[in-house]
Amino acid sequence: MNPMEVISSTKNKDFNGPMIGDDSKVVVEFQGFQKRFGNKLVHRDVSFKVYRGECLGLLGGSGAGKSVILRSLIGLERADAGKIIVDGLDITTKREHELIEVRKKVAYVFQNGALFDSMNVYENLAYPLRAHTKLNEFEIAERIHEQLCEFGLEGSETTMPANLSGGMQKRVGLARSIILQPKVVLYDEPTAGLDPYNTIRIQEMILRLKNKGVTSLFVTHDMPSVFAVCDRIALLLDGRVQAIGTREELESASGGGKLARFIRGEEI
Ligand SMILES: Nc1ncnc2c1ncn2[C@@H]1O[C@H](COP(=O)(O)OP(=O)(O)O)[C@@H](O)[C@H]1O
Ligand SMILES: [Mg+2]
Repeated sequence: MNPMEVISSTKNKDFNGPMIGDDSKVVVEFQGFQKRFGNKLVHRDVSFKVYRGECLGLLGGSGAGKSVILRSLIGLERADAGKIIVDGLDITTKREHELIEVRKKVAYVFQNGALFDSMNVYENLAYPLRAHTKLNEFEIAERIHEQLCEFGLEGSETTMPANLSGGMQKRVGLARSIILQPKVVLYDEPTAGLDPYNTIRIQEMILRLKNKGVTSLFVTHDMPSVFAVCDRIALLLDGRVQAIGTREELESASGGGKLARFIRGEEI
């Protein structure tokens, strides 16, 4: 069976695809977001919406501020102006202790999905479950087994991270990031430096989550992965979202412009 057929068989019965354009289904929204570091204004006026079940690709040159967008979404960076609404809450007005609830709903998959070196795969996955849920050890074992099987990682429970390939470390890191079943997943260059086999395995993991109704932001320079997993693409340039739309919209003559040129590898 090809990977796409396997993935569609995991589809959540209550979820019929991303709800793009339905304003009652906005899960993440940036409104006039502004962020400066010292005298450098990185974000001038960033506005965009991500709808339930959508995967939005966020593109832009190095240093455009993509990681700052993701970090701001979980309150690791504070906005200088504007709103960031996550699941109905404006997180820019929340205090540190109130952000804990938001962070439970949002998983951040770092570029170097750092596993704990001194713990085997099982213990790495058990850690967030023990810290943030009331599941007993039997339920934890069950959840970990399900998660590893779903992502084709079964049998790796007792392996130490150092004995996993780089690609497997990334995949286990992703599995750990989402073990608390978040509503929103933020991917920061998850396929950077991966071989084609592991890149496709990561794409499959993202698509599986998407089919369950998970909403995601996908930051990357890996265009094949963008085309494989994203519903829409946004271009961050000069502190603003300069273009946003589906690949077809952006490649059509009228919707082309800067994003289409960026995708083709031209200077913008
Ligand atoms: N904590 C920080 N302190 C100072 N400058 C920062 C900090 N975080 C990011 N920046 C600056 O903000 C800009 C955007 O960074 P980043 O979001 O990491 O870009 P990228 O699009 O490559 O992910 C860069 O110029 C970076 O130097
Ligand atoms: Mg970055």
